[in-house]
Amino acid sequence: MRRGHDRRLTAPHWLVEGTFLLMEPRMTGPALKPWIADIHAYVPGTSEGVDGKPLVKLSSNENPHGASLAVHAALAEARNPALYPDPDATALRRAIGAAHGIDPARIVCGAGSGELLHCAVQAFAGPGEEVLFSRYSFSLYPLLAKKVGAVPVLAADDDYAASVDALLAAVTPGTRVVLLDNPNNPVGSFLPASEVARLHAGLPEDVLLVVDQAYAEYLGAGEDDGGLALAAAHANVLVTRTFSKAYGMAGERVGWATGAPALIDALNRLRGAFNVTASGQAAALAALGDAGFVARSATENAVARAGFEAAIAALGNHGLRAIPSRANFVLVLFEGALTAEAALRSLEAGGYAVRHLPGQGLGHALRITVGTREDMAEVVRILAAATVAAA
Ligand SMILES: Cc1ncc(COP(=O)(O)O)c(C=O)c1O
Repeated sequence: MRRGHDRRLTAPHWLVEGTFLLMEPRMTGPALKPWIADIHAYVPGTSEGVDGKPLVKLSSNENPHGASLAVHAALAEARNPALYPDPDATALRRAIGAAHGIDPARIVCGAGSGELLHCAVQAFAGPGEEVLFSRYSFSLYPLLAKKVGAVPVLAADDDYAASVDALLAAVTPGTRVVLLDNPNNPVGSFLPASEVARLHAGLPEDVLLVVDQAYAEYLGAGEDDGGLALAAAHANVLVTRTFSKAYGMAGERVGWATGAPALIDALNRLRGAFNVTASGQAAALAALGDAGFVARSATENAVARAGFEAAIAALGNHGLRAIPSRANFVLVLFEGALTAEAALRSLEAGGYAVRHLPGQGLGHALRITVGTREDMAEVVRILAAATVAAA
């Protein structure tokens, strides 16, 4: 007996002996662009085990100390959800400008810095053109390039860190955008201002250099990669920043970018019309008013990170090695009997989610967000026990 025919399907459902024969419906929908078919959705860090058990999340580089009380107070204040937010985040841009000495007209806010990175690549790279970055960089970068039909080009690393020489050697006439996350994710390495300036000086003027400073607040006081000064002085430098990391506001999705007026104009054309929510704008404004919270987060991170790196160094005879980090995470290499996969399983069994990035050529490593001192001590205890079990 023939059942109803869904006109969206090429094959109808048939009733066979009282049951539906499960035929895979072959959709004849719109054809996906081949370069979109070639990508996958961004894979975020996990927060639960394979059995669904909630884990302590050390997999997305969030702030383990949460957000400033001022942010919580701003979020608790009633706003009318029926109204659209300020489309231009005017007050927030003014406050960011005041905090960093930047003309607010040279600032654009985004739904996280991720939105602005996307817009920057979309504005300046297209099908067949090249987007260049260091081999071990933010896992979003290849997706940003492929989303616009561009070709991601990976420059060789220098013991995992970005190499200016290798980046410059990889520039071709097809290069349109260079993405530099500094400090770098997932390595945690940092290029000083002299190296960033050398990279910029070696690039053709029509290539956009994006300095992604998502982790800049974790650098030492007064330490700076010079990106903001380059963005203020040159037509081809964009700097992106975020409230997701040291400000502890990843859930509110607020980031910003600064650069020459023509770059900001390009991003304004491409970004979502009301991209930063009213609560996100209010929370970020409040966060900027509590510089002490960010400073305390950075100090606490530096202490916990140093303790963790020393503990991993003590496991060096078991083949564990931490790449010195300038951010709120540490890349731990597993070069002995204990593999990264086994360490991942041990950590998960012990209640911790960390990041394994085999798709990035880092199957032998784990990126571990710096949590509270107590959590880091427990992570070390689990790893030490796992090295003994693996020996
Ligand atoms: C290097 C780097 N840039 C940008 C981002 C994006 O952050 P958001 O979109 O939350 O601002 C991240 C997030 O992990 C990151 O690691």
